Formats: sequence, C-alpha cells, structure tokens
Amino acid sequence: MNQKLQSIKQNVIECIKCDLCKTRTNSVPGKGNFKSSVIFVGEAPGKNEDKNGEPFIGVAGKKLSAALESAGVSREDVYITNIVKCRPPKNRIPTSTERETCQDYLKQEISIIKPKIICILGNTAFNSLLGGSEITKFRGKIVLKDNQLYFLTVHPAATIYNQELIKVLNKDILKLFDLITELKNNKEIQIDIDYTT
Ligand code: URA
Ligand code: SF4
Repeated sequence: MNQKLQSIKQNVIECIKCDLCKTRTNSVPGKGNFKSSVIFVGEAPGKNEDKNGEPFIGVAGKKLSAALESAGVSREDVYITNIVKCRPPKNRIPTSTERETCQDYLKQEISIIKPKIICILGNTAFNSLLGGSEITKFRGKIVLKDNQLYFLTVHPAATIYNQELIKVLNKDILKLFDLITELKNNKEIQIDIDYTT
C-alpha cells in the first residue's frame, strides 16, 4: 500500500476528533487500489463495516460489488471510502459537524490518489461534496468543480428493496466506466453541471 495512505489509515484508526469515536467499534478507513482512476464515496460505515473496519462489506456493499462486476470491474481495482469514517449510532445520517470534522481525511485520500473522477454514492456524499440534494434527479450526471470531475449515482443501500434502482445503479456504473475509458483515451467528455462557470 501507498505509504501516505497507510499513514492516513492509521490516523483514522486512532482518530478521536469527533464524538462518533465514543460509539464506534472500529473506524473504517478507505480501502482499495491507490492507483484507481475512480474513488467511490459513500455516507458512513454501517453495522458490518463498524464490526470489521472495512467499507461497504454489508448488504449495500454487495450491491456495489455486483454493479462493479456487471461493468467488468473488480472491487480490488477501485478505491472505496466514506464521508465519515465512523459509524453513527443507529445508522443516522452524520451531522454537518461530524462531516466537517472528518473531511480532511477524504481530502487527503483524494489528493494522494488523484482520481480522474469521484463517484458520489447517494445524497449525503452529494450534499457534503457538492452541496447538492435530490440525487435521484441528478444521478447519471457528470459534474466539474474546482478542476475535479464527479459522477453522481444513487446509494447502493437504496437499491436493497428496489429492483428498479438496481438497474439504475448498474446502468450508471457502466456509464461511469465508459467515461473513464474515454478519459484515459483523452477524449473530450460532455459535462452536465459545471460549477466553475
Ligand atoms: N453504507 C455506506 O455509506 N458506507 C459503507 O461503508 C457501508 C454502507
Ligand atoms: Fe475521527 Fe472521522 Fe471518526 Fe470522527 S468520524 S472520530 S473525525 S475518523
């Protein structure tokens, strides 16, 4: 693993910067390939993640893995992380204070990995990173902000009891990797929302 990422991981494991440290079992640092062209950003660890210290390993994680596989991509090829690295009690949405306190870790992950694109999974990440809401309205779109590309899709947990949303997630992930191929080939891509203008 990349040395700098390893040290972020250690800092996350030991972190006591917000109150979520009091109720967590384990912090959940980001995980995956540091050479990935894409970082997936979810909301916060759930029960299984808290128990094992790894992101997206529960039911939502299986949905994400399945979507990746249907696009011919293995989980190990990409980097997966969350807005906050410790589980909020009863899986409540992390507060704005918790998100702000935790945000440096994600900023560091991004600055080390330098992904071509960041894939936002669901409303909490959408709101935290881009100030957005109503992800179902904006999903599938490509955003440019501060020289960084983002791709918006639904949270895998939202697909658990919703067969239609599984199709949506799979379709979006397929589009994302088509896009990444185009970026790698230096093709020009169509930006849907440009925050710089
Ligand atoms: N949901 C998330 O947002 N992140 C995880 O790691 C697991 C479930
Ligand atoms: Fe630290 Fe983030 Fe965990 Fe809060 S959620 S204790 S800021 S790692």
